[in-house]
Amino acid sequence: MANGTVYLVGAGPGDPDLLTLRGKARLEVAEAVVYDALIHPEVLRWVPPHAERICVGKRRGHHSWVQADITQLLIQKARQYRHVVRLKGGDPFLFGRGGEEMGDLQAAGVAVEVVPGITAGLAVPAAFGLPITHRGHSSSVVLVTGHEAAGQYPPRICWEAIARSADTIVIYMGLHHLPQIVPQLLAGGRPPSTPITLLSAGLGPPRQHWSTLGTVLAELAATPFEPPAIVTIGAVVGWAIAHRAISPATDTD
Ligand SMILES: C[S@@+](CC[C@H](N)C(=O)[O-])C[C@H]1O[C@@H](n2cnc3c(N)ncnc32)[C@H](O)[C@@H]1O
Repeated sequence: MANGTVYLVGAGPGDPDLLTLRGKARLEVAEAVVYDALIHPEVLRWVPPHAERICVGKRRGHHSWVQADITQLLIQKARQYRHVVRLKGGDPFLFGRGGEEMGDLQAAGVAVEVVPGITAGLAVPAAFGLPITHRGHSSSVVLVTGHEAAGQYPPRICWEAIARSADTIVIYMGLHHLPQIVPQLLAGGRPPSTPITLLSAGLGPPRQHWSTLGTVLAELAATPFEPPAIVTIGAVVGWAIAHRAISPATDTD
């Protein structure tokens, strides 16, 4: 039986000062930290020097851990230590497999505490002065993964319905599947002039590309945008451009 607690901590979108105070407090008592690839190295500065640090994230060209092995590792560390932090990018429960890990740990008798984090879909647009809701421009927002856009049949996400159902669409992991997603949003009734932006912030120099649904695919074919990216679609993107909150230019610095 495990004696320790696993803290599922959201690290936020990258910038270390966007970690919550509770997340910082859990890191400060950690005896082991198991963390993902999209964690800013500076976030680990709060981990005591004697604590074990284990990276289980996928990095280009390197093997990543399978989920079952990560769960087994956490169970093993919870038997060994009292305080184990499972550090995840953004929020653990938003496209972060936090629910799966919590369920498996609880089934193994391990106590779990969840510490929410600031999710990339909120923080990254905010870093560019892009409000995802705005009175008069957007009364609804959908956070959706683009990861399932290709190859899954029957598809679980109906992009045509999403095109009609929310004013602002925020897509995680959507970069590589935009060639499948964009035509479906157009088929769902979004005009080709609908503003779209690809943004990255918090993990190195900020990067941005803004465009319209009608032209973005050709632009990305010519000049690819490197992941990670948050894709935001809707009138609020146009509002941000109009207010010069984000620059109307491709910026891949
Ligand atoms: C597996 S999901 C994890 C999301 C995370 N749990 C959260 O709440 O932000 C990873 C995706 O989040 C987005 N993402 C995370 N950090 C980002 C950042 N700093 N800039 C842009 N996109 C980011 C990208 O779409 C990336 O593919």
